[in-house]
Amino acid sequence: MGKYGDRLFVSTEAERQRLASLELAYDQGSFDTLSQVAIKTHWHCLELGAGAGSVARWLAAQVPDGMVTATDIDTRFLGDLQAENVRVRRHDLVTEEFPEATFDLIHARLLLSHLPERANILRKLFRWLKPGGVLVVEGMCWYPVNATENDVYRTGMNAYDKATATLVGTDSSFMQRLPALLGELGYVDVGVDLHGHVVQGGTPVADMWRRTVAMSRERAIEAGLATHADFDAFEELMHDPTFFGHGPVMAGTWGYRPEQV
Ligand SMILES: C[S@@+](CC[C@H](N)C(=O)[O-])C[C@H]1O[C@@H](n2cnc3c(N)ncnc32)[C@H](O)[C@@H]1O
Repeated sequence: MGKYGDRLFVSTEAERQRLASLELAYDQGSFDTLSQVAIKTHWHCLELGAGAGSVARWLAAQVPDGMVTATDIDTRFLGDLQAENVRVRRHDLVTEEFPEATFDLIHARLLLSHLPERANILRKLFRWLKPGGVLVVEGMCWYPVNATENDVYRTGMNAYDKATATLVGTDSSFMQRLPALLGELGYVDVGVDLHGHVVQGGTPVADMWRRTVAMSRERAIEAGLATHADFDAFEELMHDPTFFGHGPVMAGTWGYRPEQV
């Protein structure tokens, strides 16, 4: 198995556009979820796998007396992140560390589901939080996809899902298990905020899924998960304003490092 960015999610202009479409479709929900943890203006925040940087930018505005460290294994799309209180750092979450008790808030969107080392990572993040600090992990729950009565939609979405599982080690059921895992690891006051999305052809959410599924096309066809005709039909569906499907639910799950450890 490869890892994120090797054979899928390769860092190209198409990936930059996909990340931009992701931000357009999902940023407001992330800002609503993050607002639930009552961010203080002096906090030091860590934005992991910052992608094209919209959440790091938003966090920087919430902490004018604090700072944001924005990391990614590939920082090329973070070049225009300009705020005095933002530090961009190339950092691999799987292999690298931060000092114990550094951050008040750690946030990661659409990252941990893609990293097979996710349980160990949650242990590291616990250590990097200050006592009383909070971890917020956002990711997709896949179950609504299979409840949608449209074969073209389900085939396209599931070809992408299986391709990422095989080639990257993505686990699209991880978010459902995350609250229990946080509890086992010692996080407290675990909570979740669920955001449902309609995938209507022609909308920003459909545009994001059109780009995301298309990215897996070559590999999924090679692996026999779907055909060229399946991918063409999915592409068309994502432009069709008469199509309405249930998109994956975005779960924003949080847990706190206890004050006393
Ligand atoms: C699906 S994108 C999400 C980007 C951003 N969090 C968002 O939601 O807009 C995942 C991001 O995680 C980064 N990434 C993947 N593996 C990583 C790792 N091991 N350490 C740090 N970042 C990683 C990728 O380069 C990519 O920018």
